[in-house]
Amino acid sequence: MQGIMALLRRLVWTLAAAAMTMPGMLPESDLPREKPYTSVFSATSSNSGEPFYDLVTTFYDDPHSSRAFAWEAMPEYRNMVIQYGTGESEYAYQLRAKAELYPVADAKNTEAAVDESVYNAEYITPERDMLFYRVAVKNLEPGTKYIYRIGDTEKNVWSGFYEFTTEPEKTDSFSVIAVSDPQGRTAAEYKNYTNTLNAAKNDRQDAAFIINMGDFTDNANYDDWWRYFFDASAGTKESLPLMTAIGNHENRGSGTKYYNLHFYNPQNGAGLGRWYKSAPDEDKALPIIQNLDNTVYSFDYGNAHFAVINTGTDWEPRSMEQLLKMQRLWLESDLARTTKRWKILLTHIGVYVQKPRENIVREVLGSTIDKYGVDLVLEGHDHTYMRTYQMKNEKRVSERLTGLWSGEGTVYSIIGSAALKRYHSKEEHPYVAVLKNIPSKTPSYTLLDFTSKQLTFTEKLIDGTVIDEFTIDKLE
Ligand SMILES: [Fe+2]
Repeated sequence: MQGIMALLRRLVWTLAAAAMTMPGMLPESDLPREKPYTSVFSATSSNSGEPFYDLVTTFYDDPHSSRAFAWEAMPEYRNMVIQYGTGESEYAYQLRAKAELYPVADAKNTEAAVDESVYNAEYITPERDMLFYRVAVKNLEPGTKYIYRIGDTEKNVWSGFYEFTTEPEKTDSFSVIAVSDPQGRTAAEYKNYTNTLNAAKNDRQDAAFIINMGDFTDNANYDDWWRYFFDASAGTKESLPLMTAIGNHENRGSGTKYYNLHFYNPQNGAGLGRWYKSAPDEDKALPIIQNLDNTVYSFDYGNAHFAVINTGTDWEPRSMEQLLKMQRLWLESDLARTTKRWKILLTHIGVYVQKPRENIVREVLGSTIDKYGVDLVLEGHDHTYMRTYQMKNEKRVSERLTGLWSGEGTVYSIIGSAALKRYHSKEEHPYVAVLKNIPSKTPSYTLLDFTSKQLTFTEKLIDGTVIDEFTIDKLE
């Protein structure tokens, strides 16, 4: 029966797609058809193989009614759209995606990519142009499963069909998977990331979305490394929103450009500005662009509010300070506005860390986090597992390891590594409640289970071993 339904649905879609090319045959989308971002299509080189890559979905604004999608395509695919519908009838919407042509290079052709001495290399030598697409779908029904595909209407070339489900009207409880720092260079390294995601998804089959705390590849300038990262989560990234905090490795060479081409995040932090700095090596003093648009944002799901900040440079404390001060006002107003019961902050470089030089994040943002009673701060970057006591005004407010009370203070957790690389630390800090020096090649993942009364945090190795677990309760 299911097979017949799937076949029928497929047939309906094929007919719908055919009819879409004949104006007037089907109701047109009531959504605005957006014009292409650029009309400069000058690429000449091309690769063989699949024409579309790195398709990933994210939340856009309200998860009940919107979704965003981004992908990369060979430059001859100039007329790309998303088609989506519930699959229950022949009625489907089509929306044109915005395109930006941008040069890319592959690490496999670049000696510099594996040479640590030029690790922060300014330049990539562009090898080819690619089209980066993005589209936001709005006016969706809550709690509804949609089928979609992307494709080029002129060439009549289409992706496979994927599904996504909008947030239910009322969400009393939900679960989130969080991972960090996959940071690979080869497809083989990313198998560990795949294993981590699979273990986490088995654990929480109804997870609402996935958080990744940054450093998706070792160097964001290389298109092949992005490909390994996205391919490692094929089957997940097209359906479950991937909500990311930008890492320092997304700020090599071209600044935040490649991150921003790959993710279409909520735009409620946009307008904070662009900030230029010189490269650390004066001989290569091209300006680095830190574009805060699209890297600083927030979203709600269920009874929780998630704010995301950009700590994407680790070169020098002064740069970081400047970057953070630009975000502090935004964070203040964002946290002041929310009425959600739980407040979560995502930051790649931590507020409480194993490396004292990074306390600049705490100096600039610590009082804001205290003031608005953030419950939990998820951190990446340090490739270890660490969790603080509940902290306020840089002091421990509780000695308890679990059964914590919301509103007393904030727990900060470096959630470790979802792939290979681990750092070990013997530094002792009074704020550390739990520190696990996990061997390399031993990935872990985090589960956040929310109800209106309780947040349960669980850190697990992919063999199922629980390495930390605690609860935060709402007393009222
Ligand atoms: Fe990092």
